[in-house]
Amino acid sequence: MTIDQHCLMLRAALLGGLGMAAAGCSKPTPRQDDDALAGASSSSTSSPLPPLSVKKRTGPPLRTGPAKCDPAITHTPCKGTEGSRLCSSDADCKESRIGVCASLEPANLGGGEYGPTTCECVYGCSVDADCAPGFLCVCGADRRRSDAACVRATCASGADCDSGVCAVSIYDDDCDGDHRVTCKTADDECSSNDDCAPIGREESHCVYREEKGKNPRWACRARECDVGRPLVVDGVAHVAASALRSDWLAPDRDRDRGPSTLSSGDRALVVAHWLRAGALEHASIASFARFSLQLLAMGAPSDLVAATQRAMGDEIEHAKLCYAIARTYGGDATGPSALPAATAPISSDVRAIATALVDEGCIGEALAAAEAAILADRCEVPEVARALRRVAEDERRHAALAYRALAWMASLHPEIVREVVGRSLAEPVKPPVEAPAMPASGKSRHGLRDAAETAWWSAQVLEVAIRPALGSVFSQTGEGA
Ligand SMILES: [Fe+2]
Ligand SMILES: [Fe+2]
Repeated sequence: MTIDQHCLMLRAALLGGLGMAAAGCSKPTPRQDDDALAGASSSSTSSPLPPLSVKKRTGPPLRTGPAKCDPAITHTPCKGTEGSRLCSSDADCKESRIGVCASLEPANLGGGEYGPTTCECVYGCSVDADCAPGFLCVCGADRRRSDAACVRATCASGADCDSGVCAVSIYDDDCDGDHRVTCKTADDECSSNDDCAPIGREESHCVYREEKGKNPRWACRARECDVGRPLVVDGVAHVAASALRSDWLAPDRDRDRGPSTLSSGDRALVVAHWLRAGALEHASIASFARFSLQLLAMGAPSDLVAATQRAMGDEIEHAKLCYAIARTYGGDATGPSALPAATAPISSDVRAIATALVDEGCIGEALAAAEAAILADRCEVPEVARALRRVAEDERRHAALAYRALAWMASLHPEIVREVVGRSLAEPVKPPVEAPAMPASGKSRHGLRDAAETAWWSAQVLEVAIRPALGSVFSQTGEGA
């Protein structure tokens, strides 16, 4: 199927969740510039969408010379109960002039793995002289604490660069962090954040990037951690760490047909991807369990509660499929370990429930459905393609359920839901100008997403399917969103 066909099929499913037929589907009109974008609205919906807003975005901060930063370090002193203790007081932190012994949350190691809570030295800086050779002091470089930090540097100002531009690149998505001070070059794929289209719902930013098989350069990058319906607690998506076990593996029918041409490095990459996908699907079980309790608390109709319970069962199967695929590619028999966040306090605030429903269900699950369907078409491994098709079908149903639940919530709390939907619709979407070449990349042959392709099709899905469906939530009552 083409991307357009996938979009239209998804749109029909989402509108079906609202009890509407999908009539008059059409692709969005490409917009030429930000002014046009700011004033545009879709003509393919039954109720008018608010104009898309455009946030003024800044480019990477330029490094023009030495900085003088606030040396204060925001931190929690160690409690003595951390799983790993590398210091016991500030006096132990002697690697730099400015350092404290701090209690740190577990690091997200990727692949669903989290490290232990640690007590370790954290260093700040005020001026470049506080940093080791090869590093410079950058104000606000530690995003989690908004503190200054020493950052690896290959230039100190524009005078050190052929391009005349030395800039600060800060990337941190909880799975991967890379901070640099480095030159801009003529080979860069972007010069500012304005060159970067959203990837899915995530804004992408112009950052310095080193990728296997490509020259290091400045390129657009978005958060690359989360897909599908996450388990979000206090704004942070949680997944269980991996554990060696075999009770979370779907029955394996095609182990002997597993791919054999991958290098060990690529195979490890594919295994890590599917383990992380399994952990995210496992977290979706908890997310649906939480939502079912919220539905009950709000007095939801029985069919919504029953559909949510069925969706929970689907997510169990998705998790087992993902862990089984990781095994097929040569990984150990692996499943999830404990997920303490599953019993985090559950909000009963209607606005919070509606916001999570829109973000995680109406948008997150719809994008997950499209992604699985598109990747299934590209995938060349039959077992993986079959699993992706199953996931796509289920996620489409889950997304439709989210719209059905949102419509029901809107019937009870129209003002709140209107505000939540309106805020979501007002988020910027910047359609890419042209489609990238579409032959399957090496990654997508094995069910992995390719960032450039994902940026293109997810913008189509947002415009053709998700935004019109969100804009139609109030059409049944004759009100605009
Ligand atoms: Fe799922
Ligand atoms: Fe789902």
